[in-house]
Amino acid sequence: MSVWRVKPVSAFEADMKKNDLKRVLTKWGLTSLGIGAIIGGGIFTLTGIAAHDYAGPALALAFVIAGIGCLFASLCYAEFASVLPVEGSAYAYAYGTVGELFAWFIGWNLILEYMMGATTVAVAWSGYFVKLLHLFGIEFPIWLCNDMATATEKSAELGIVAPSFAFNLPAFLITWVVTAILVKGIKEAAKTNNIIVVVKIAVVLFVIIVGAFYVNTDNWTPFIPAEEPIKDTLGNLTGGVKFGFGGVLTAATIVFFAYIGFDAVSTQAGEAINPKKDVPFAIIASLIICTVLYILVSLVLTGMVKYDQLDKAAPVASAFSGIGINWAVFIITIAATAGLTSVMLVMMLGQTRIFLGMAKDGLMPAFFKVLHPVFKTPYKSTILVGGLISLVAAFTPIDKVSEMCSMGTLLAFAMVCVAVMILRYKKPELERPYKTPAVYLVGSLGVAFNIFLMTQVRAATWNFFMIWGVLGVIVYFLYGKRNSNLEKQGIE
Ligand code: ALA
Repeated sequence: MSVWRVKPVSAFEADMKKNDLKRVLTKWGLTSLGIGAIIGGGIFTLTGIAAHDYAGPALALAFVIAGIGCLFASLCYAEFASVLPVEGSAYAYAYGTVGELFAWFIGWNLILEYMMGATTVAVAWSGYFVKLLHLFGIEFPIWLCNDMATATEKSAELGIVAPSFAFNLPAFLITWVVTAILVKGIKEAAKTNNIIVVVKIAVVLFVIIVGAFYVNTDNWTPFIPAEEPIKDTLGNLTGGVKFGFGGVLTAATIVFFAYIGFDAVSTQAGEAINPKKDVPFAIIASLIICTVLYILVSLVLTGMVKYDQLDKAAPVASAFSGIGINWAVFIITIAATAGLTSVMLVMMLGQTRIFLGMAKDGLMPAFFKVLHPVFKTPYKSTILVGGLISLVAAFTPIDKVSEMCSMGTLLAFAMVCVAVMILRYKKPELERPYKTPAVYLVGSLGVAFNIFLMTQVRAATWNFFMIWGVLGVIVYFLYGKRNSNLEKQGIE
């Protein structure tokens, strides 16, 4: 059947030779892009809810669990990146191994990862930006910095009348700023990103080193608080649990979002100077660096403040205000605002490069591969992606978009683990500058782990996810299958 046709490796090599993008990224430039994409809303925002509601001091354990799963996936990504250093990432890897429909489906899920990821971070950015303005005494009206549902909820909390219209203006505007940087060019984007990454790592190290002096080890006991059933607002049992090992697992699905982004490095292969060696290096290096930083930050945070006192909206900043170091709150809030910008930068960059890869294969319209005559960036696609993200971010609550992002990513990770094993089996002779160690074991654990985490996500998110999946298959049969280059070449 033609839906299982595979793009020959020689075709990938030909694509790489006629690459129109500028090759400017070095090994550490790529690693920096990875870190730029990874450290963001997960550590600066979601740690609060994960520790406060689900894991307690075992937040660090939740990070270890989520990190192990990502490590398996990253080792598989790295092998692929060394064999097929092209900009389509997991989509391209699947196209070269399992077949067109599977590849399309990964590409469709990567839209969730990158677009919904960037959207989540735009909303998180808005939260930090509003907090920053607040620190300077400027207040934003509720209706102008939230979506309708959140604005209604916040108004109820404050006992004021809910607005009849709400629009998240800061989230909308930051998306357009990032879009403009990306249209201008990868080099500018990489330079901006490098500066932000330095600031971001500096602040994370600051939190770890300064925070370590204020750790009270009593706050770590009990390390895993006793399990409790979760009740809804009416006091009915919901079936979920807080704390205990079950709670730690839920926390792991929440903080999984914090790791998303290491794979974004693989979307930049078309712009890497030496992609076969440097992309695998950057994928693994950025993940390991961030894992270590995350575990240390979680230990410090839960050591500085009792977990039930951690703020859910801005946990890192609030831990410092909790111990009276108010000047640190300014620094952390400013760095978080900058840090979130760089996550958006890489996520949106990744999305346009995946579309570029799919358009080159004929699975997406040619619109997505039109490069700017001077900047050499896929500017039309960038503007479309920016436009969509800005609108969704302006009108949607953060938890809806972040869960969709995690679902799409988990499935893409599992599919990459499957694909790497298939490629090793079908084409053992291919030159692999980087080989996944114990590939069948690592690949199987990667699949099992990522699918398991998917089963832990809420039912409502599953419904949206299924609808998105069915839509993807319909679009494939109506457009992708008919227009694919392989179809035109008569390859079955
Ligand atoms: N890992 C990224 C973040 O935490 C997506 O914001």
